Amino acid sequence: MADANRASIYLNASLAALPLLALWFWRQRRLSVAMPSKTVVVVGASWAGINVAHGLLKEVPDAKVVLVNPSDEFFFNIASPRVIAKPGDIAREKYLYQIVSLFEKYPNRKNAFDFVLGKAVSIDLEGKKVSVAENATTTDLAYDYLVIASGSTSNATTGTASLKVPFKAAQEGGQLESEIKAAQEAIKSAKSIIIGGAGAVGVEFAGEITDAYPDTKVTLVTNTDSVLPILKASPRQKAAKILKSKGVEVLTGKTVQAAELDAATNKWTVTLADGEVLSADAYISTTGSVPNNDFIPASLLNESGWVEVDAHFKVASTDSVYAVGDITHYSARLTSRIAGQVSVLVSNLKADITGKGKRAAYDSNQTLMMLVPIGKSSGTGQIGGFTAPGFMVLLVKGRDYFTGSGMKFVAG
Ligand SMILES: Cc1cc2nc3c(=O)[nH]c(=O)nc-3n(C[C@H](O)[C@H](O)[C@H](O)COP(=O)(O)OP(=O)(O)OC[C@H]3O[C@@H](n4cnc5c(N)ncnc54)[C@H](O)[C@@H]3O)c2cc1C
Ligand SMILES: *[C@@H]1O[C@H](CO)[C@@H](O)[C@H](O)[C@H]1NC(C)=O
Ligand SMILES: *[C@@H]1O[C@H](CO)[C@@H](O)[C@H](O)[C@H]1NC(C)=O
Ligand SMILES: *[C@@H]1O[C@H](CO)[C@@H](O)[C@H](O)[C@H]1NC(C)=O
Ligand SMILES: *[C@@H]1O[C@H](CO)[C@@H](O)[C@H](O)[C@H]1NC(C)=O
Repeated sequence: MADANRASIYLNASLAALPLLALWFWRQRRLSVAMPSKTVVVVGASWAGINVAHGLLKEVPDAKVVLVNPSDEFFFNIASPRVIAKPGDIAREKYLYQIVSLFEKYPNRKNAFDFVLGKAVSIDLEGKKVSVAENATTTDLAYDYLVIASGSTSNATTGTASLKVPFKAAQEGGQLESEIKAAQEAIKSAKSIIIGGAGAVGVEFAGEITDAYPDTKVTLVTNTDSVLPILKASPRQKAAKILKSKGVEVLTGKTVQAAELDAATNKWTVTLADGEVLSADAYISTTGSVPNNDFIPASLLNESGWVEVDAHFKVASTDSVYAVGDITHYSARLTSRIAGQVSVLVSNLKADITGKGKRAAYDSNQTLMMLVPIGKSSGTGQIGGFTAPGFMVLLVKGRDYFTGSGMKFVAG
């Protein structure tokens, strides 16, 4: 009798323990899921890299993300023409965001995200490691998969044969604010400015400068036969008309061959291919993009220095390296392309890591969309085959260069 009682007590006790046991097993399982098995190192925390990190944290529980960037702040660079021409017009917190604060929304994935401050200096493809330098210390980061999102810079950003104007993030961390300030002051004090190139950046910058400083003489020099050469005739003509009304002189069919600052006179000398020599207080180059590729093995680059990827954003010669955004060989270097690219890349990384899910492919033939404010009161652009009406350009972009809702592009 006593034995039977004892037996039933034990039985009851173990029955009561069953749910606890189940809970324990479940917790262990969850913990093991929460401990990601694959490390993805993402180099570059801008439009592309930040959104790849969000995609992996949301969709791939097995992925641990290590995001590397030389600055701890993201630069909303597309607002730079106004930020530099009109100091104070857009508040600092509208164009510089703390990168780690964009990733506080994943409390369940705390051990799946690391931010590493520094600059990638080399990649060991065989050993699957990236070396990252910061303050004379070099650290090796091991990866299972690598995503190169180091983007592009420009001659104005690096101050190569141009006044230094940060249209992109600075190459070294902690320098951007002082570079912005220096450029703001140089533009403010210049009485004459030559801009080389008449793509969207050159035209926007000319518009912002003449808005802010109507007495400054602005000259746009382009080797094409019109401004905004990739757009169709009607927005091209509209842009030319607006620039003229703002007093901007446009020189078409002229190639800038050299530009240098004369230390004695503190003036810029701009030599054109036809031998003509121009002079101004400032020269700013907006003639194109330069790849941030100094840490990338030459075997991954095409002959112009961009990373050659397939339609899955994978570097074909490797099984573990991807690239996305401006650094790839896709020549439309626009933030408006990046969301589409990131979703394709994430679907492929997910398939690599989990062995499940559909692999998407990228179609680079997409509708042309370009909105070009020319100061705060006019602008033009093109959406597919249509000319974007000026009021629409102002409403969508000209008011604040998207900075009013800027965070949403990188908040995941
Ligand atoms: C003035 C201007 C205005 C623009 N306006 C528009 C617009 O209105 N609409 C539009 O669609 N597009 C616009 N663009 C294009 C847009 O800026 C780019 O397409 C976009 O910045 C590309 O993003 P990304 O993430 O690929 O690279 P990037 O923005 O170039 O960022 C690269 C990141 O990688 C980091 N990095 C570089 N090297 C290393 C390294 N070795 N190690 C670690 N990190 C590194 C950089 O510091 C940076 O944070 C504009 C461009 C300019 C210059
Ligand atoms: C590197 O040095 C700068 C300036 O002293 C400092 O702000 C930064 O935090 C340092 N980086 C690291 C990772 O310690
Ligand atoms: C940048 O400047 C260098 C040196 O003047 C020049 O060779 C190169 O073509 C320029 N690149 C772009 C994209 O403007
Ligand atoms: C290399 O990339 C550049 C920039 O996008 C592109 O214009 C060029 O066609 C590419 N070259 C090759 C051989 O693919
Ligand atoms: C790109 O897309 C347009 C519209 O869908 C189509 O007419 C055109 O033929 C395509 N071009 C290429 C090169 O695929």
